[in-house]
Amino acid sequence: MAERSPSGMSPVRRAWLRELGIERLWNLPGPVLQAPVPGIVQAGVQDDAGAVQGAESPMRDVAAPVLRTEAEAAEAPAEAPAPVALDPEQAWAALEEEVRHCTACGLCQGRTQTVFGTGPRHARWMLIGEAPGEQEDKQGAPFVGRSGKLLDNMLAAISRSRQVDVFIANVIKCRPPGNRDPLPEEVARCSPFLMRQIELIQPELILVLGRFAAQTLLETDARIGSLRGKVHTLSLHGRSVPVVVSYHPAYLLRSPAEKIKAWQDLRLAASVGGA
Ligand code: URA
Repeated sequence: MAERSPSGMSPVRRAWLRELGIERLWNLPGPVLQAPVPGIVQAGVQDDAGAVQGAESPMRDVAAPVLRTEAEAAEAPAEAPAPVALDPEQAWAALEEEVRHCTACGLCQGRTQTVFGTGPRHARWMLIGEAPGEQEDKQGAPFVGRSGKLLDNMLAAISRSRQVDVFIANVIKCRPPGNRDPLPEEVARCSPFLMRQIELIQPELILVLGRFAAQTLLETDARIGSLRGKVHTLSLHGRSVPVVVSYHPAYLLRSPAEKIKAWQDLRLAASVGGA
Protein backbone atom coordinates (compact mmCIF):
# COMPACT_ATOMS: atom_id res chain seq x y z
CA MET A 1 0.00 0.00 0.00
CA ALA A 2 1.33 3.46 -0.89
CA GLU A 3 2.32 5.63 2.04
CA ARG A 4 0.79 8.92 2.99
CA SER A 5 2.92 12.05 2.68
CA PRO A 6 4.13 13.80 5.86
CA SER A 7 1.14 16.12 5.49
CA GLY A 8 -1.15 13.11 5.70
CA MET A 9 -2.34 13.50 2.11
CA SER A 10 -3.61 10.26 0.66
CA PRO A 11 -1.96 8.84 -2.47
CA VAL A 12 -5.18 9.25 -4.42
CA ARG A 13 -5.50 12.90 -3.56
CA ARG A 14 -1.83 13.49 -4.25
CA ALA A 15 -2.15 11.85 -7.68
CA TRP A 16 -5.16 13.98 -8.50
CA LEU A 17 -3.45 17.19 -7.41
CA ARG A 18 -0.36 16.23 -9.40
CA GLU A 19 -2.57 15.76 -12.43
CA LEU A 20 -3.95 19.23 -11.84
CA GLY A 21 -0.47 20.65 -11.45
CA ILE A 22 -1.31 22.04 -8.00
CA GLU A 23 0.14 19.41 -5.72
CA ARG A 24 2.38 21.91 -3.93
CA LEU A 25 -0.26 24.59 -3.74
CA TRP A 26 -2.73 22.36 -1.95
CA ASN A 27 -0.29 20.22 -0.04
CA LEU A 28 -1.32 21.71 3.25
CA PRO A 29 -1.65 19.78 6.49
CA GLY A 30 -5.02 19.21 8.04
CA PRO A 31 -8.35 18.05 6.69
CA VAL A 32 -8.80 18.99 3.09
CA LEU A 33 -12.48 19.67 3.13
CA GLN A 34 -13.01 22.05 5.97
CA ALA A 35 -11.55 25.30 4.71
CA PRO A 36 -13.95 27.49 2.75
CA VAL A 37 -12.68 28.67 -0.59
CA PRO A 38 -11.68 32.32 -0.19
CA GLY A 39 -13.87 34.84 -1.91
CA ILE A 40 -16.72 32.42 -2.53
CA VAL A 41 -20.24 33.16 -1.37
CA GLN A 42 -21.29 30.33 0.91
CA ALA A 43 -24.64 31.36 2.27
CA GLY A 44 -26.61 31.28 -0.97
CA VAL A 45 -26.93 33.41 -4.04
CA GLN A 46 -27.97 36.83 -2.96
CA ASP A 47 -28.83 39.97 -4.85
CA ASP A 48 -27.55 43.42 -3.97
CA ALA A 49 -30.31 43.86 -1.42
CA GLY A 50 -29.31 40.62 0.24
CA ALA A 51 -32.39 38.70 -0.86
CA VAL A 52 -31.96 35.09 -1.94
CA GLN A 53 -32.58 34.91 -5.67
CA GLY A 54 -34.47 32.28 -7.57
CA ALA A 55 -36.79 31.17 -4.78
CA GLU A 56 -39.81 31.61 -7.04
CA SER A 57 -38.52 29.49 -9.87
CA PRO A 58 -41.20 27.10 -11.11
CA MET A 59 -38.69 24.25 -11.27
CA ARG A 60 -38.36 24.60 -7.54
CA ASP A 61 -41.86 23.35 -7.13
CA VAL A 62 -41.94 20.92 -9.98
CA ALA A 63 -44.46 18.15 -9.77
CA ALA A 64 -43.31 14.63 -9.12
CA PRO A 65 -43.40 12.33 -12.15
CA VAL A 66 -46.86 11.03 -12.94
CA LEU A 67 -47.26 7.62 -11.36
CA ARG A 68 -50.84 7.18 -12.55
CA THR A 69 -52.73 7.94 -15.72
CA GLU A 70 -54.32 11.33 -16.37
CA ALA A 71 -57.77 9.76 -16.13
CA GLU A 72 -56.91 8.26 -12.76
CA ALA A 73 -55.51 11.55 -11.59
CA ALA A 74 -58.62 13.43 -12.68
CA GLU A 75 -60.84 11.00 -10.81
CA ALA A 76 -58.73 11.03 -7.68
CA PRO A 77 -60.17 12.98 -4.77
CA ALA A 78 -58.46 16.30 -4.12
CA GLU A 79 -57.12 15.06 -0.82
CA ALA A 80 -55.56 11.93 -2.34
CA PRO A 81 -52.01 11.49 -1.03
CA ALA A 82 -49.21 12.50 -3.39
CA PRO A 83 -47.05 9.56 -4.55
CA VAL A 84 -44.22 10.80 -2.33
CA ALA A 85 -46.32 9.86 0.69
CA LEU A 86 -45.63 6.22 -0.20
CA ASP A 87 -43.13 4.32 1.82
CA PRO A 88 -39.81 5.70 0.47
CA GLU A 89 -38.56 2.27 -0.59
CA GLN A 90 -41.75 1.62 -2.52
CA ALA A 91 -41.65 5.08 -4.01
CA TRP A 92 -38.10 4.48 -5.15
CA ALA A 93 -38.97 1.14 -6.71
CA ALA A 94 -41.99 2.71 -8.41
CA LEU A 95 -39.85 5.49 -9.78
CA GLU A 96 -37.26 3.04 -11.14
CA GLU A 97 -40.03 1.12 -12.80
CA GLU A 98 -41.57 4.27 -14.22
CA VAL A 99 -38.27 5.38 -15.71
CA ARG A 100 -37.49 1.91 -17.08
CA HIS A 101 -40.71 1.82 -19.08
CA CYS A 102 -40.96 5.51 -19.95
CA THR A 103 -42.13 6.36 -23.46
CA ALA A 104 -42.90 10.02 -22.79
CA CYS A 105 -40.65 11.31 -25.56
CA GLY A 106 -39.02 10.10 -28.76
CA LEU A 107 -35.73 9.24 -27.08
CA CYS A 108 -37.22 5.93 -25.97
CA GLN A 109 -37.10 4.74 -29.58
CA GLY A 110 -33.33 4.89 -29.89
CA ARG A 111 -32.28 3.72 -26.46
CA THR A 112 -30.77 0.38 -25.53
CA GLN A 113 -31.98 0.99 -22.00
CA THR A 114 -32.73 3.84 -19.66
CA VAL A 115 -30.03 5.11 -17.32
CA PHE A 116 -31.65 5.71 -13.97
CA GLY A 117 -28.53 6.57 -11.99
CA THR A 118 -26.19 4.79 -9.61
CA GLY A 119 -25.25 5.13 -5.99
CA PRO A 120 -26.75 4.61 -2.59
CA ARG A 121 -30.38 5.56 -2.13
CA HIS A 122 -29.47 7.72 0.84
CA ALA A 123 -26.38 9.31 -0.66
CA ARG A 124 -25.18 12.52 0.96
CA TRP A 125 -24.32 14.01 -2.40
CA MET A 126 -25.96 13.93 -5.78
CA LEU A 127 -24.02 14.58 -8.96
CA ILE A 128 -26.08 15.53 -11.96
CA GLY A 129 -24.92 15.35 -15.56
CA GLU A 130 -26.66 15.86 -18.86
CA ALA A 131 -27.64 12.60 -20.53
CA PRO A 132 -26.26 9.12 -21.19
CA GLY A 133 -23.72 8.72 -23.96
CA GLU A 134 -23.04 5.63 -26.01
CA GLN A 135 -21.32 3.64 -23.25
CA GLU A 136 -23.88 4.64 -20.66
CA ASP A 137 -26.69 3.57 -22.98
CA LYS A 138 -25.00 0.18 -23.44
CA GLN A 139 -24.16 -0.39 -19.79
CA GLY A 140 -27.16 1.23 -18.15
CA ALA A 141 -25.12 3.37 -15.75
CA PRO A 142 -24.10 7.04 -15.85
CA PHE A 143 -20.58 8.24 -16.47
CA VAL A 144 -18.93 4.93 -17.32
CA GLY A 145 -16.69 6.17 -20.12
CA ARG A 146 -13.49 8.22 -19.92
CA SER A 147 -15.24 11.14 -18.32
CA GLY A 148 -16.66 8.76 -15.72
CA LYS A 149 -13.17 7.60 -14.83
CA LEU A 150 -12.09 11.20 -14.36
CA LEU A 151 -15.17 11.85 -12.28
CA ASP A 152 -14.42 8.85 -10.04
CA ASN A 153 -10.86 10.11 -9.56
CA MET A 154 -12.10 13.57 -8.68
CA LEU A 155 -14.47 12.11 -6.11
CA ALA A 156 -11.74 9.90 -4.70
CA ALA A 157 -9.62 12.99 -4.16
CA ILE A 158 -12.19 14.24 -1.68
CA SER A 159 -12.80 10.78 -0.21
CA ARG A 160 -16.16 10.27 -1.86
CA SER A 161 -17.40 7.61 -4.24
CA ARG A 162 -20.50 6.42 -6.01
CA GLN A 163 -20.17 3.16 -4.10
CA VAL A 164 -20.42 4.86 -0.72
CA ASP A 165 -21.96 8.31 -0.60
CA VAL A 166 -22.64 9.81 -4.01
CA PHE A 167 -25.62 9.19 -6.25
CA ILE A 168 -24.95 10.05 -9.89
CA ALA A 169 -27.81 10.83 -12.23
CA ASN A 170 -28.52 12.74 -15.39
CA VAL A 171 -31.21 15.24 -16.30
CA ILE A 172 -32.17 12.95 -19.20
CA LYS A 173 -32.48 9.21 -18.73
CA CYS A 174 -32.18 8.10 -22.38
CA ARG A 175 -29.37 8.72 -24.82
CA PRO A 176 -30.05 11.50 -27.32
CA PRO A 177 -29.07 10.42 -30.84
CA GLY A 178 -25.51 11.37 -31.71
CA ASN A 179 -25.16 12.80 -28.20
CA ARG A 180 -26.94 15.97 -29.29
CA ASP A 181 -28.22 18.40 -26.66
CA PRO A 182 -31.58 17.27 -25.32
CA LEU A 183 -34.56 19.21 -26.69
CA PRO A 184 -36.70 21.38 -24.41
CA GLU A 185 -39.59 18.95 -24.70
CA GLU A 186 -37.36 16.04 -23.72
CA VAL A 187 -36.18 18.00 -20.71
CA ALA A 188 -39.75 18.87 -19.76
CA ARG A 189 -40.77 15.20 -19.92
CA CYS A 190 -37.75 13.81 -18.15
CA SER A 191 -36.69 16.32 -15.51
CA PRO A 192 -39.58 15.46 -13.18
CA PHE A 193 -37.90 12.08 -12.73
CA LEU A 194 -34.78 13.85 -11.59
CA MET A 195 -36.76 16.07 -9.24
CA ARG A 196 -38.31 12.97 -7.75
CA GLN A 197 -34.91 11.38 -7.30
CA ILE A 198 -33.74 14.49 -5.44
CA GLU A 199 -36.85 14.44 -3.32
CA LEU A 200 -36.37 10.81 -2.34
CA ILE A 201 -32.62 10.87 -1.82
CA GLN A 202 -32.67 14.15 0.11
CA PRO A 203 -29.01 14.89 -0.56
CA GLU A 204 -27.07 17.36 1.55
CA LEU A 205 -25.58 18.79 -1.61
CA ILE A 206 -26.03 18.69 -5.36
CA LEU A 207 -23.04 19.12 -7.64
CA VAL A 208 -24.16 19.92 -11.17
CA LEU A 209 -21.80 19.02 -13.98
CA GLY A 210 -21.75 21.11 -17.11
CA ARG A 211 -23.63 23.95 -18.71
CA PHE A 212 -26.67 21.99 -19.80
CA ALA A 213 -27.43 20.40 -16.43
CA ALA A 214 -26.68 23.64 -14.58
CA GLN A 215 -28.93 25.74 -16.78
CA THR A 216 -31.69 23.16 -16.57
CA LEU A 217 -31.61 22.68 -12.83
CA LEU A 218 -31.23 26.36 -12.01
CA GLU A 219 -33.57 27.45 -14.80
CA THR A 220 -31.27 30.04 -16.20
CA ASP A 221 -29.43 30.73 -19.41
CA ALA A 222 -26.47 32.21 -17.55
CA ARG A 223 -23.06 31.03 -18.64
CA ILE A 224 -21.44 28.30 -16.61
CA GLY A 225 -18.56 30.59 -15.71
CA SER A 226 -20.94 32.89 -13.89
CA LEU A 227 -22.75 30.02 -12.16
CA ARG A 228 -19.58 28.54 -10.70
CA GLY A 229 -18.10 29.77 -7.43
CA LYS A 230 -21.44 30.33 -5.69
CA VAL A 231 -23.80 28.22 -3.69
CA HIS A 232 -27.22 28.16 -5.30
CA THR A 233 -30.35 26.83 -3.66
CA LEU A 234 -32.86 24.38 -5.06
CA SER A 235 -36.15 24.37 -3.17
CA LEU A 236 -38.18 21.25 -3.60
CA HIS A 237 -41.37 20.62 -1.68
CA GLY A 238 -40.32 22.85 1.16
CA ARG A 239 -36.79 21.54 1.40
CA SER A 240 -33.76 23.57 0.30
CA VAL A 241 -30.73 21.86 -1.16
CA PRO A 242 -27.46 23.68 -1.78
CA VAL A 243 -26.28 23.41 -5.37
CA VAL A 244 -22.74 23.92 -6.65
CA VAL A 245 -21.96 24.10 -10.34
CA SER A 246 -18.83 22.73 -11.98
CA TYR A 247 -17.55 21.80 -15.39
CA HIS A 248 -18.52 18.61 -17.13
CA PRO A 249 -15.74 15.99 -16.93
CA ALA A 250 -15.80 15.61 -20.72
CA TYR A 251 -14.98 19.30 -20.99
CA LEU A 252 -12.14 18.84 -18.48
CA LEU A 253 -10.72 16.07 -20.63
CA ARG A 254 -10.69 18.47 -23.57
CA SER A 255 -9.46 21.44 -21.53
CA PRO A 256 -7.18 20.10 -18.80
CA ALA A 257 -6.15 23.62 -17.77
CA GLU A 258 -9.65 24.03 -16.32
CA LYS A 259 -9.17 21.17 -13.88
CA ILE A 260 -7.91 23.61 -11.29
CA LYS A 261 -11.30 25.30 -11.34
CA ALA A 262 -13.01 21.94 -10.98
CA TRP A 263 -10.88 21.35 -7.91
CA GLN A 264 -11.99 24.70 -6.48
CA ASP A 265 -15.58 23.69 -7.16
CA LEU A 266 -15.09 20.41 -5.32
CA ARG A 267 -13.64 22.22 -2.35
CA LEU A 268 -16.54 24.63 -2.32
CA ALA A 269 -18.97 21.72 -2.50
CA ALA A 270 -17.18 19.90 0.29
CA SER A 271 -17.17 23.00 2.48
CA VAL A 272 -20.95 23.22 2.10
CA GLY A 273 -22.04 19.63 1.84
CA GLY A 274 -20.30 17.90 4.69
CA ALA A 275 -16.78 16.59 5.03
N1 URA B 1 -22.19 12.65 -19.89
C1 URA B 1 -23.20 12.92 -19.05
O1 URA B 1 -23.61 14.06 -18.87
N2 URA B 1 -23.76 11.88 -18.42
C2 URA B 1 -23.34 10.64 -18.56
O2 URA B 1 -23.89 9.76 -17.93
C3 URA B 1 -22.26 10.39 -19.42
C4 URA B 1 -21.70 11.41 -20.08
